[in-house]
Amino acid sequence: MSDTRDLDILSAAFHANPFPTLDRMHAAGPVVRLKLPIVGWTWLAVTHDSCTVLLKDHQTFARDPANAGSRTQARILRFLPRTIGLLALNMLGFDDPEHRRLRGLVDQAFQRRTIEALRPMIAEIADRLLDRLQGRAEADLMADFCRDLPLSVICAMLGLPERDHARFRNWLGGLKDTASVGAVIGALPGVIRVVRYLRRVSRPGGGALPEGLVAALRDAAAGGQMLSEDELVSMIFLLFGAGQETTTHLISGAILALLTHENQRSRLAREPDRIADCVEECLRWVSPVQMTKPRFATRDVVWQGRQFRRGDMLAAFLAAANVDSAKFVNPHAFDIARYPNPHLSFGTGAHFCLGFELARMETAIALERLWARFPGMRLVEDKGAIAWRRRLGIRALVRLPVRLAA
Ligand code: HEM
Repeated sequence: MSDTRDLDILSAAFHANPFPTLDRMHAAGPVVRLKLPIVGWTWLAVTHDSCTVLLKDHQTFARDPANAGSRTQARILRFLPRTIGLLALNMLGFDDPEHRRLRGLVDQAFQRRTIEALRPMIAEIADRLLDRLQGRAEADLMADFCRDLPLSVICAMLGLPERDHARFRNWLGGLKDTASVGAVIGALPGVIRVVRYLRRVSRPGGGALPEGLVAALRDAAAGGQMLSEDELVSMIFLLFGAGQETTTHLISGAILALLTHENQRSRLAREPDRIADCVEECLRWVSPVQMTKPRFATRDVVWQGRQFRRGDMLAAFLAAANVDSAKFVNPHAFDIARYPNPHLSFGTGAHFCLGFELARMETAIALERLWARFPGMRLVEDKGAIAWRRRLGIRALVRLPVRLAA
């Protein structure tokens, strides 16, 4: 096994070109040990096979550390302000049966048929955002398009009034850097404001639109469907957070991938029916969510040739699984016709992304509408203009400056 102590998965340089580091991970795999900010020493599964087993073997690997004998999280939660502590009460933090109960309440709202019905609404939001760019020579697509589209869509789904969008953007602005304890602490006041807002808005008469998910969940809770007010707020925060940040970085990463691979871009222009395959390849090649939340070994176990103790922490490094040469031919190549494409960008197992249909549709619509409006769009010439954030687990552009006119 090669040395992995100096593996860097945080810096802007890593995010700009992760492939050399991912190759080193594979050389050291199938699981590597890294010291991560905030969480400390963690095992990372880095092959397609090891990530899949880690996320699917729920008997051996639990999501809730309490199910692996660890009381640390429960102790930390007792010390946090209640407003922050309640955020742990969502489906992503639990194992079955709590996980199934919570996910069951929103599953239907994210099924293909329900999401398909949102297509006209999403296209209309995309067009409205692009109207603002009409006539301009240049734009930063990050600030002017990629952030606003997923935010507006998830707010519309949840039934959060449009007049409040600008406030969320300001409150959550501090969460752009999560790579250090200081940055996370600095972001807490904004998070607390959002949680308080969501609590207020989700109460009867609090302002949530009657046709949205917030009102539906509130009615389910009132109808005795085993959902406490804290769980309701935590669920909305999860949907609100997971629904925008991830999709923003998929859309921006996809635009950058197409702008830097002219042959793929012109192929998509010639063969527009490839849009769905193109989005899948963007999910794989960009890997906007690079790693999952941690899992905890429920027992002492020898796995992937290593001894793990009950309570040991492991996570799936999806970005590495997505370029595993045992699974993908020529894995570094960006190929919009790649088939099959069994990427793990949405995870797998019980916690497989709830919003995958929505994210796919939003991204396809974003790419179609953007290029329909600005077919000659290209990156601004200054190479230093593209910058990546220093972040753990999310591949996030700071800005995406483009020339809109040919
Ligand atoms: C490109 C966009 C997206 C990516 C790459 C992505 C990725 C992921 C991944 C990897 C997981 C599993 C995490 C783990 O196992 O630890 C996950 C779970 C989840 N995602 Fe997404 N996601 C995206 C968009 C969305 C959207 C639009 C929503 C909608 C609100 C959403 C809601 C969720 C929820 C609720 C979970 C937890 C599911 C559960 O615990 O059962 N995601 N996502």
